[in-house]
Order: sequence, then structure tokens, then C-alpha cells
Amino acid sequence: MNKKIKGVILAGGSGTRLFPITKIISKQLLPVYNKPMIYLPLGLLISLGIKDILIIVTPRDLPLFKKLLGNGINLNCKIQYKIQKKPNGIAEAIKLSKSFFTSKKILLLLGDNFFFGNNLDKIIIEAINSPKGASIFTYKVNNPQRYGVLSIRNNKIVNIVEKPKKPTSNRAIPGIYIYDKKSISYVNNQKPSKRGELEITDLNNRYLKNNDLEIFDFNDGIIWMDMGTFDSYLEASQFIAATEKRQGFEIYSLNKSNG
Ligand code: DAU
Repeated sequence: MNKKIKGVILAGGSGTRLFPITKIISKQLLPVYNKPMIYLPLGLLISLGIKDILIIVTPRDLPLFKKLLGNGINLNCKIQYKIQKKPNGIAEAIKLSKSFFTSKKILLLLGDNFFFGNNLDKIIIEAINSPKGASIFTYKVNNPQRYGVLSIRNNKIVNIVEKPKKPTSNRAIPGIYIYDKKSISYVNNQKPSKRGELEITDLNNRYLKNNDLEIFDFNDGIIWMDMGTFDSYLEASQFIAATEKRQGFEIYSLNKSNG
């Protein structure tokens, strides 16, 4: 078990872009081809050797997550749960993790983000071991307007902008973040954004201003998909189906004796 770092998966939210399905069930419990979506971030953490895990869920969906995953014993990990009463923003995950955060750093994963590929573990482990207080990643995309995006002027990263109308780069920030304990006081002092959320981008900018943020680029061999829209959800299902059938193995297969 990796003692330096614990894992947090944010699996709350209202999933409005997948309405009406998410009116009755959490997005992260929907099937992605042959497995519930939550298996993808959970499988990534387990493959990294991060087996002490907190899953943040809505009050409505807690019983279903518990039924599916239990305390993790059958999955060779330890799972705890924390309720997020309202979708107050991704950075609220840091506040909600306060008593869980006994390790040096935590790795925060968004429950609807799928990462897969060659050397993925290598680059994440390098980021965990970074001497900086926080590490984030970038991924080149065609539609940066949908994401947090690096703002670059004169070849210098000046800040990160959440869903910019006019992005100054195509380098989006995927939903995988590594923070040290300073993040707790930073988020405690953070104000909600205009849309009423504690923004993860504001937290990342705080580290960037302090010259305490390391940014790693995911290369071409790595797949990142955000499954928050019907199209991206379908694409992730198709990718997993095609890869598994073609190559004859199961992506992030978790022990099936759990149910
Ligand atoms: O996918 C990467 C992007 O995720 C980043 O590039 C953005 O900077 C970041 O803000 C986020 O953008 P989204 O608009 O995609 O975030 P969304 O509201 O869809 O939430 C992402 C996940 O986090 C989803 O699984 C639901 C969960 N969530 C979200 C919020 C706001 C919670 O559990 N609680 C919340 O309060």
C-alpha cells in the first residue's frame, strides 16, 4: 500500500448533462460498456498501488455505492465514503477529505474521467514524487472551451482559466490532481465563483502563483476521456469495447466476486 498518498474520487454532482438518466441515478454508476463508470477511476488508483480511498457521493446514491463496492475488502483496497450534500464544486472535495487526509499528499480523481495507456502510471508516480506542493496534468484537445485550460502568453504559463470562451492554448487540465496539505487552508479561504462553486481551477492557480505547482504533459500514448456528455460517454464505452475485444483483456477489471 502506498503510504505517501491516499486517493479521493469525486462521484457526486448533479450530472445535468446526462439528464434525464441522472435524475434517478448517479452518473458514476452508469455502465461504461461492461462495468460501472466508478470502476475506471477506482481501477486506476488500485493499479497505482493507492488502496486507501475515499469516495465522495450524494446522499441519494450512498446506499448504491455501498452495495456495489462495500468497504473495498473484495477489491483488495479500503474504501470509505463521504457525503457531499450539494454540488458546491470540485474543490469542496478537499474540505470533505480533511479527516481522511493523513498522508503527505492526496490524489483527487473526478469520477467521470477515464485515463488509460502506456506509461500512465510512470508519469503519475513522477507527479506524486514531485517536490512541489501540487501537480496537475495537461492534455491537448480540440475543444478546450469545455475544460480548465492553460493560459499561455509569450511561451509562459500565466494562469489556468476555467472554460475560457477564447482559449489561448489547447492544453486542457484533466480531472486528476495531486495536492499536499496546504490545499486544505487554501480551499478554506477560497470564495465560490460566479456559478456558486468552489473551483478546482482557483486552487490550482493559487499553487501556480506560489510557484508551487508542477505541470506534467500527458503524451500521445495516453487516453483521457471525460464521460460527462452523451457523446463522450458513448465514445468511452466504444473505446473500451473495441480495445477489450481486440486485445483480449479487461480494462481495469476489479474482482467480480463482490456482488
Ligand atoms: O473533466 C475535466 C474538467 O472537469 C476540468 O478540465 C475542469 O477544470 C473542471 O472544472 C471539471 O469541469 P466539468 O464541467 O467537467 O466538471 P463537472 O461539474 O462535470 O464535474 C466533474 C465531476 O465531479 C463529475 O464526476 C461530478 C463531480 N462533482 C462535481 C461537482 C461540481 C462532484 O462530485 N461534486 C461537485 O460539487
